Amino acid sequence: MDNRTSAVLIAVFGIIAISSMCVAGYTLVQLNEMQDSPGSGQDIFDADAYYERVQDYAEQIREQTDIVPEVAIVLGSGLGSFIEGVDVHTTVPYSSLKGFPQSTVQGHNGNFILGTMAGKDVIVMQGRVHYYEGYSSAEVVLPLRVMHELGAKTIIITNAVGSLNYDYEPGTFMVVKDHISMVPSPLIGENIDELGQRFIPMNGAYDSLLMEKLKTIAIEHDITLNRGKFIQVTGPQYETPAEIELYRSWGCDTVGMSSAIEAIAAAHCSMKVCNINCITNYGAGMGGHTPSHEEVQEMSKKMASDLIIMLDELIPMI
Ligand code: HPA
Repeated sequence: MDNRTSAVLIAVFGIIAISSMCVAGYTLVQLNEMQDSPGSGQDIFDADAYYERVQDYAEQIREQTDIVPEVAIVLGSGLGSFIEGVDVHTTVPYSSLKGFPQSTVQGHNGNFILGTMAGKDVIVMQGRVHYYEGYSSAEVVLPLRVMHELGAKTIIITNAVGSLNYDYEPGTFMVVKDHISMVPSPLIGENIDELGQRFIPMNGAYDSLLMEKLKTIAIEHDITLNRGKFIQVTGPQYETPAEIELYRSWGCDTVGMSSAIEAIAAAHCSMKVCNINCITNYGAGMGGHTPSHEEVQEMSKKMASDLIIMLDELIPMI
């Protein structure tokens, strides 16, 4: 092979190598974009179509009830019995709303309950969907946006969580004062201007007055309610002990698989937010602990009565 032939061969291989790198790079960028986009994970988020769905679901519910909810309540796993404290007027199963996200998790019923509680019109989400079920963050918060569309200005979010703080024992509650989210924002994609602004601050997203009121109620009823920092992870697997150690080192007090993205969507549409964590277990590896779904459900059920006491008193104050 003379020098000229070698030079040509090197040039050809060089061009092939550079082209392959470009194609691989482009494919990676595309894959990333597909994974990050809300909707099915494949397509670009269609804000107009999404908001039309929100309005359409709200209209379908409005047609079935006279209740105009001021307060929205999201019930976490095992807390369905809370509904005993509500004077129920209308039940709207999620399954009756075509194309509405359905929960697939045992222990999560799927209903909107509209009624009154302590004289206030409320809407309760009995069961929610989660990011780990394969829904995008935007889809997870769609029911919340429907409740906002129906008139709810305040939202009380409840969820089962693991404790990352040895002083916050299972069987006690924590009101969230701030969060870290490991789940993509529900606000990704074209902004829905009818709901809120493109860039919103999250400082003060959790209403301090509601926190204060809840604390007073808890003290009156001898219910242990701490205040702290929550981290939302994707799940569905419980954390590794190494992850628990990391989140503890970040100063987080509790960990769970829902709620922070709901708080983000609520803050986006200027709803007042109160997130009550029901601490069901210690995080993986803490004191050698191995968490389980059964343990979470069992403890949530035991905690429901105290939660009802707190909500019964909090709701009239809103
Ligand atoms: N980790 C994540 N989510 C949870 C836990 C937990 O330990 N307990 C209840 N929900």
